[in-house]
Amino acid sequence: MVHTNGLPPPPPPPPPKGGGMNGEGFFEDSGLSACVSVSLFDMLSSLSTALDLIDFELIDHHNRVCYIATRLATHLDFSAEETNDIYMAAIVHDIGAIVFSDHLGLANFEVNDAYYHSESGALLLFKFEPFQGFAPLVRFHHTPWQYGDGRYAFGEKVPYGSHILHLSDRISVLLDRRELAQSQIPGISKKIRENSGSQFVPAFVDAFLEISRQEAFWLDLASPSLERVVERISCLPRTSLSMNQLTEMSHFFALIIDTRSRFTATHSSGVASSAMELGALLGMNASDCSKIKIAGYLHDLGKLAVPEKILLKPGKPSEEEWMIIKAHPYYTHRILERVEGLEDITFWASNHHEELDGNGYPFGRAADNLSMGSRIIAVADIFTALAEDRPYREGMKKRETRKIFREMVECGKLDVQVVEALYDNYETINESRKSAQEKELKDLSDFWERLEKKAGHK
Ligand SMILES: [Fe+2]
Ligand SMILES: [Fe+2]
Ligand SMILES: [Fe+2]
Repeated sequence: MVHTNGLPPPPPPPPPKGGGMNGEGFFEDSGLSACVSVSLFDMLSSLSTALDLIDFELIDHHNRVCYIATRLATHLDFSAEETNDIYMAAIVHDIGAIVFSDHLGLANFEVNDAYYHSESGALLLFKFEPFQGFAPLVRFHHTPWQYGDGRYAFGEKVPYGSHILHLSDRISVLLDRRELAQSQIPGISKKIRENSGSQFVPAFVDAFLEISRQEAFWLDLASPSLERVVERISCLPRTSLSMNQLTEMSHFFALIIDTRSRFTATHSSGVASSAMELGALLGMNASDCSKIKIAGYLHDLGKLAVPEKILLKPGKPSEEEWMIIKAHPYYTHRILERVEGLEDITFWASNHHEELDGNGYPFGRAADNLSMGSRIIAVADIFTALAEDRPYREGMKKRETRKIFREMVECGKLDVQVVEALYDNYETINESRKSAQEKELKDLSDFWERLEKKAGHK
């Protein structure tokens, strides 16, 4: 039986928005097919918000590139399907920067070596079937036109959409957020014109110069509500995801988070698996078990806001670094709260460092406000962190972890029922955690191997 501590039950989900991607089913339904009324569009936007967190310089960068690219594609009469691909690619185009610490250079007009983030971005996107269609656009988003030679790169045809992204990306980085946008029009236009033919497709530059005559174009770009503008110009059909699709997408998000942190490379999958096992043992129904698994995948999404040098620092963080690290569940909340239909999952995921006595972070919520879902994720997170192997130590054994959990229960921090369920079924839960993390490690190794192979062919 799931105990809710007197909290009212969650409201029933809103009716599915319906519709399929490109007029048809974008996803193949299989297994768990119950719709959870979460739209692909909302999830894509939340991913884009998460990506902007990796670098202060990149705030709104994905929205800006998406806005410019979509305006250009529409002006140039690209088909609806091509425009949708350009839109989706643009809104996550620097996803590969998560893997490398070279993302600071992305805010400069001349990018020294854009190869790795473009290549790794495409490889990541290929891992999630619904994104495979626009992955090639991301792969070549820094390919210069070179007076027509840029039609091909590394022996492959470069989609025109990539050249749209390239131009849009460079316009975006030229626009200085500290200056009045309109006063920058002549300077930006001059710089883009000078690079027509060498960097950019001349016809695309002409289209940009035409669009840029409209002051509203620049006002939109500089607008604090650009996000809403970008949402408005989207022609993507509103597709509701099934539970299975949402789980897959969340697993994809987990892979992105885990790719970034080499010390805890498979942590999210371990939490997802342990949380689901605990949920089932504590009487959650099938739908809630899937939701708790998703919350496990997403709980550390806010870590994208923690700079790599802090995340990967060996040893103890300084006081200030610790404050930055502690903010990550707050960002998990901020990234996910925008997704309609994901309310339970958002709470469970972002409460993973809360404690029943109210001394957790970042919200300081106490028992009254921590439902069973939040309590399960908190235990699954600590259990996985203790039991998983780290490069600097082996995973702790049952006896050692039990001692830690006992103390935390005695101090009134964790739910005794959840901890008992863990230790009454330790071997099963630990085995499924281990195998989920091993599978993830294989996936990640495969990703790194393919990336190295590609670099070898560079
Ligand atoms: Fe880029
Ligand atoms: Fe970019
Ligand atoms: Fe965390």
